[in-house]
Amino acid sequence: MATEYKLKGLTSIDLKNGQKQEAEIEGIENGKVLLAKVKDELHAMSANCTHYGAPLKLGVITGEGRITSCFNVATGDVEDAPALDPLAKFEIIQKDGAVYIKGDESFMKAGRRPLNIKCSAQGEEKVVIIGRCV
Ligand code: FES
Repeated sequence: MATEYKLKGLTSIDLKNGQKQEAEIEGIENGKVLLAKVKDELHAMSANCTHYGAPLKLGVITGEGRITSCFNVATGDVEDAPALDPLAKFEIIQKDGAVYIKGDESFMKAGRRPLNIKCSAQGEEKVVIIGRCV
């Protein structure tokens, strides 16, 4: 269920295109969110890479809205390896001199959203997937 959470110490968001800032989420232990502005639009997403947890506040945002380690700022989707899980995205609400994000508490705590992939066998054929981890 989507719930609103206040961002600690923020009264407004003053970012220019390509800028980002990390903020603490009140009421979520160790909860953090990354705010970013791309193409005049504000976005709130998980604060750390879903691969090994690198802080995305240290990442680079391209003009097209891609943040290293290669996530789409607008959707949170993975755009390149090695991360597998997408970032969680949250709605931003600015009201009464404060900034809130709205979203699923479990996604805020996990710092990611689960992949929504379903796969089921259609016949008797077998498939082998070969790869290596780097
Ligand atoms: S921590 Fe982001 S790609 Fe490894």
